[in-house]
Amino acid sequence: MSLLDAARAVRENAYAPYSKFKVGAAVRGASGTVYRGVNVENVAYPEGTCAEAGAIAAMVAAGETELTEVAVIADSPSPVPPCGGCRQKLAEFGRGDVPVVLATTAGERLETTVGALLPGRFEASHMDKS
Ligand code: THU
Repeated sequence: MSLLDAARAVRENAYAPYSKFKVGAAVRGASGTVYRGVNVENVAYPEGTCAEAGAIAAMVAAGETELTEVAVIADSPSPVPPCGGCRQKLAEFGRGDVPVVLATTAGERLETTVGALLPGRFEASHMDKS
């Protein structure tokens, strides 16, 4: 199963009663293992979490801290761009050249990279004292 197929399948389990916008994400860890996530909303809206965050949490919980590939899918008119927070989360665990595929359930695909999604990202080196 491709990474995108994994994201498409897990999307069915998204908990999105408020937005009605189900998102599925899958990341591949450096070991090759695939980790899946969905958006999990909450009646207190800001407490909801994105699909990408769920997939990353599953990867870290399994003991991996490097991702090599990302896929995100939603029933949107065009491939859904990860939110700003998720871009920073992906950048925490993925190098700039890590491929990201964004897709619609209708079959449209957009291929990009972690680096292209977050140019000028905040990194640990920015905390170096002068
Ligand atoms: N959402 C994601 O899970 N990932 C994205 O990349 C974009 C937005 C979710 C958050 C919320 O549950 C719903 O989509 C609408 O914003």
